[in-house]
Amino acid sequence: QQARAVAVVEALPTVSQPVISREVTILFGSQTGNCQRLAGSLSRKLEEQGFQVTLSSMNNFKSNGLKKVENLLVLVSTHGEGEPPDNARSFHEFLYSKRAPQLENLRFSVLALGDTSYEFFCQTGKDFDTRLEELGGQRLTPRVDCDLDYDEPVAEWFEHVLSSLSGSQHTSAAASNAAQVSVSTIGQEQSEYSRTNPFKAEVLENLNLNGRGSDRETRHLELSLEGSNLQFEPGDCVGIYPENHPELVDSLIKAMNWNPEESVPVNKKGEEHPLREALLYHLEITVLTKPLLEQAAQLFSNPKLSELLAPGHEQELKAYLDGRDLLDLVEDFSPGQVSARSFTAILRKLPARLYSIASSLKANPDEVHVTIRAVRYEAHGRERYGVCSVHCAERLENGSTLPIYIQHNPNFKLPTNPDVPVIMIGPGTGVAPFRSFLEEREELGAQGKTWLFYGDRHFVTDFLYQTDWQRMLKEGVLTRLDVAFSRDTEEKVYVQHRLLEKSSDVFGWLQEGAHIYVCGDEKHMAHDVHAALVTILQQEGNMSPEEAVAYLDDLQQQQRYQRDVY
Ligand code: 2AM
Repeated sequence: QQARAVAVVEALPTVSQPVISREVTILFGSQTGNCQRLAGSLSRKLEEQGFQVTLSSMNNFKSNGLKKVENLLVLVSTHGEGEPPDNARSFHEFLYSKRAPQLENLRFSVLALGDTSYEFFCQTGKDFDTRLEELGGQRLTPRVDCDLDYDEPVAEWFEHVLSSLSGSQHTSAAASNAAQVSVSTIGQEQSEYSRTNPFKAEVLENLNLNGRGSDRETRHLELSLEGSNLQFEPGDCVGIYPENHPELVDSLIKAMNWNPEESVPVNKKGEEHPLREALLYHLEITVLTKPLLEQAAQLFSNPKLSELLAPGHEQELKAYLDGRDLLDLVEDFSPGQVSARSFTAILRKLPARLYSIASSLKANPDEVHVTIRAVRYEAHGRERYGVCSVHCAERLENGSTLPIYIQHNPNFKLPTNPDVPVIMIGPGTGVAPFRSFLEEREELGAQGKTWLFYGDRHFVTDFLYQTDWQRMLKEGVLTRLDVAFSRDTEEKVYVQHRLLEKSSDVFGWLQEGAHIYVCGDEKHMAHDVHAALVTILQQEGNMSPEEAVAYLDDLQQQQRYQRDVY
């Protein structure tokens, strides 16, 4: 206590500077857990500097307390078409409503996580930033928008936040602490392996779960965690660093007339690799973004590209970016002589892909299982492949290795009480985390009832993990199973139709305190399932549409309705 008090006094600003409160509120809105983890890490940094920190997810924050906050730090990601994560939705709505207070005493700063390949890049962060200013707040330091590779900009934002709160332009201690953030964000984990230092996991099993004749291919991968010390809970994800398709890499090198052996840098630290290797393992070549095209326009001696980027061509640009890759770009806008070095310098790092974990560590020690559907389709006159899924489907033999890390997801967790019933809705590969949930409950000897809704195209070829579910039903770990095979009948049936058919029981389970989980496609499935739940509450609970929506909001608030959707 003594030592801390002294440190506080020393860090106080000099008289000429405005006195800044030492109380800081950090609010995060997080879907997959990145913002939550970063917020926790920022909170620890600030406490080390003698600040009093209130750390909260946006949905646990009492919005009537906002008026009293003097220093507010917002960390938020953006989802889908520019939407807030589930646990940021109500606070976002509140700020944009008439109930939002004037905040003339507020100082704030926003860290926005996003992905430049989406049209509404970092939109939620931008919304908070704009609105807090409109309400009278003053920026402590400008908003920072991060792309997938967020470590460096996050460290910079931390540094600016710490120094502006400390009332000095630059405290070297704060700065060096902040710089550590990028490497220590996964602080509590005992394992030395993380997103920035992935573990090379051995492939133990790689099976196709679909039967012969199916038009889909879904891989079940079993990876070894032996020696990694990596831990996870059901609901967590695994991040996989894939390899680009060799055919695409070779076509690109050929189209540009480059030397595949030429050495090129793969990051800002100056690490170099031969070009072919860099394009296979380190750089993103399958996604076009507006910032990338803008940089390419500087390199290419082609006025057509600059024209596409000029004001007034937004719709055309959007259509062009959709579903095209780097090979399209160089074929469509013959760039002339561009060196491999200058071209690779404008590419993003090849990002990891996240998959929901399909196994329980208790049931399968030292292993992690994932369910990956191979993405293949034709577009713009060429066969296209999902980078990670096709890598796993076509070029990953038993005994080979895959660089991975664990991404904890605090927003998709089984109830802590194993006796609480759970309803799980997961068509297609969305069923993966529920295999993990059920394996875990089996290991725990949990007494709570469980109900799974599963759907896919055809019963005969696409019933993923059918034998697992049958065994679990027999042994009582799985209480109920309802399935919807959409292409076996004249009329399509989906999981939400099954929910509606069983509406009275679904409502009964909710009344008994069941938690409800949805995993899989966001745009169509999760949206339609949500609507079905609203209908069920109206029908069975005699609620008005507004009351039903409020009931679900409340469930979400209590973390009894959780979604892992993409
Ligand atoms: P479909 O492809 O026959 O339309 C997993 O992909 C399953 O989800 C498939 O059976 C697919 O059906 C189905 N599906 C497609 N759209 C859906 C929606 N809006 N809601 C629920 N399931 C959907």
